[in-house]
Amino acid sequence: MTNVLQISDTHILSKGAMVSGRLDTSDALGRLVTRIGDIRDQLGKLDALLVSGDLSEDGSAESYAQFKSLIAPLNLPTYVIPGNHDARDPMRTAFADALPANGPLNWTRQVGDIRLIGLDTLVEGQGLGTLSSDSLYFLQDALLEAGDAPVLMALHHPPFACGIGFMDSIGLTNKDVLRDAVAAYSGRLRIVCGHIHNMMVSDVAGHIAISAPSPCSTFAYDRRSGAPVGYMTQEDGCLLHCWNAGFQTIRIGPMAGSGPFPF
Ligand SMILES: [Fe+2]
Repeated sequence: MTNVLQISDTHILSKGAMVSGRLDTSDALGRLVTRIGDIRDQLGKLDALLVSGDLSEDGSAESYAQFKSLIAPLNLPTYVIPGNHDARDPMRTAFADALPANGPLNWTRQVGDIRLIGLDTLVEGQGLGTLSSDSLYFLQDALLEAGDAPVLMALHHPPFACGIGFMDSIGLTNKDVLRDAVAAYSGRLRIVCGHIHNMMVSDVAGHIAISAPSPCSTFAYDRRSGAPVGYMTQEDGCLLHCWNAGFQTIRIGPMAGSGPFPF
């Protein structure tokens, strides 16, 4: 059994700073890390932490240092991919032991039974994302090399339309390229992503793709054409992906209820 915790879209700034003057994203991530620590015995052994982009709000070195200090209590091998708010070089420097020294921030890792693939869809300075030709070739090679191992593939921008208009307008520009790349793959493949601050499950060329919620905010699932553009102050937790002769994903909510009470 292999268990990979996925946290996404933490939007951390330097210590004490607030996103949009309103969101204390460090406090929110700190609460989630505490929550995970509180239930760690219940979850069983965790093998790795995958962070699917927008670790930082502003791409600053200070924000990555703050992020690392906040997740330190998890004490997990940590693998990161960039989101549209991240900046490649400061992120590369902050995670020098886990990221390539140059080029796109693509990587593969063997974590227990799982082959983890991280893909870089960042177009610096823009909200939208693209799978570059370099990253596409990287993905094709990584899938070939995975052999019989189940694959957990991560990218920041969802390879599906989510129905929230203003987020789809800054989505993955070449979803068709990614779909073609995984369509013929016959192994066990689960695609995970972030960006839309909502947990959604979608079909992508016959594979299941799941987007993670954000610990700090969400976007209303409002599919009206004139839907307001903005974020909601809602802490939504994270995901745990488990491989045990098949993939299973659960959401870890940000707050504990009381109980359990006898029936
Ligand atoms: Fe985000």
